[in-house]
Amino acid sequence: MNHLVSPSMLSCDFSNLRQEIEMINHSTADWFHLDVMDGVFVPNITFGQPVIKHIKQHALKPLDVHLMIVNPNRYFEDFQKAGADWLTIHYEASTHLHRDIHAIKDLGMKAGVSLNPHSNVQLLKDVIEDLDLVLLMSVNPGFGGQKFIENTYTKIVELKEMIEERRSSAMIEVDGGVTFDNAGQLVEAGCNVLVAGSTVFSHPHPQEAIERLKQLR
Ligand code: DX5
Ligand code: ZN
Repeated sequence: MNHLVSPSMLSCDFSNLRQEIEMINHSTADWFHLDVMDGVFVPNITFGQPVIKHIKQHALKPLDVHLMIVNPNRYFEDFQKAGADWLTIHYEASTHLHRDIHAIKDLGMKAGVSLNPHSNVQLLKDVIEDLDLVLLMSVNPGFGGQKFIENTYTKIVELKEMIEERRSSAMIEVDGGVTFDNAGQLVEAGCNVLVAGSTVFSHPHPQEAIERLKQLR
């Protein structure tokens, strides 16, 4: 399977949100990556379901919602109603991960779990068959534009082995510090979905940046 590109709207121009959505609609991007932060799990605060609901009205591609919030289960239904197609919660923010994964799936969404850079992939061993996606954070979550953490490559390889061994259909997504320089190596290691914020939106021609991440040239 060819890899996917999910531009992180965190770095877009929110004063021109409609135009940014149309730009993604007309690009070769696969998903919209939407970062929800609560100021508790991570130091930053971004947006929530009301904004996502508006994005959904114009987005022609699936919404890949990354929840960086504590007790995420309080809001699963709200995000489903707002239009999330993929809902990813953090391993570090969920006490009853197995229950949460199934609650997401029961609402008809694809379920993802994200690991912070310090969390070992083996922590997911007992739920890997239940997952549609594993999001490996390659920076400490909270902000765009940070430097990529190099141990991500070995985590991808280890996770891919686990997925194959358990015959899981989970996709591997990498988020944080993805650039033209490391994207190829990430896909080669086994990454299925590249998230990119600043690499896309700080580029003078974001659609070209997306296409370059797709083609890896
Ligand atoms: C960080 C977010 C990322 C962020 C990535 O906590 O989860 O999705 O937007 O931004 P870049 O690609 O600029 O590192
Ligand atoms: Zn993210």
